[in-house]
Amino acid sequence: MYNILFVCLGNICRSPAAEGVMDTLISRQNPSPQIQVDSAGTAGYHAGEKADRRMRQAASARGIELTSISRQFRGREDFEKFDLIVAMDDENLRDILRLDPSGRYRDKVVKMTDFCRRYNDKYVPDPYYGGPNGFEYVLDLLEDACNGLMEHLKNAKL
Ligand code: 4NP
Repeated sequence: MYNILFVCLGNICRSPAAEGVMDTLISRQNPSPQIQVDSAGTAGYHAGEKADRRMRQAASARGIELTSISRQFRGREDFEKFDLIVAMDDENLRDILRLDPSGRYRDKVVKMTDFCRRYNDKYVPDPYYGGPNGFEYVLDLLEDACNGLMEHLKNAKL
C-alpha cells in the first residue's frame, strides 16, 4: 500500500478536497491501485470539523463527496506513515519541513502544483476568505494535479 497525505493550513478546504479528488480517481480505476489517501492541517484550530460547507457543496456538484474530519499534522508519526506528503502552498511546505530539522524526510515532501499539467500555478490558493469562484478554481487545480500525480505514480510503477 502506498500512503499519500495532503496538507494545507486548516484541513477544511484544500487538503480534504485533494483527498476527495484523489480518492475518486483511485476508486474509478479497475483494478483500483493500492493507494491510500488522507489529509491534515498544519494548524489544529478546525480539528474535529467536517470540510467547509462551501467546499463540500462545490465538490459534490462534481460527484466528489468529502467525508474527512479535520486533524492537525502530526510530525513524527505522519512522516513515518506516509510515503508522500503533498503541501498545498509554500507556507504549508515550510511548516511541514520545520518539523523535520534533520531533513530525514525531505524527499517525501512535495508541492501539489508540481503535478499540474494544464495549470502553471505555483501553489493552490487558500479559498477560505474569498467568493465561490475560489472553490471552483481550487477544484480545477486539484483535478489537474491529481491526474498528474496518478500518472506520476503509474510511471513509478506503484
Ligand atoms: P485550508 O483553508 O487551509 O484550505 O483548509 C483555510 C481554512 C481555515 C482558515 C484558513 C485557511 N482559517 O484561518 O480559519
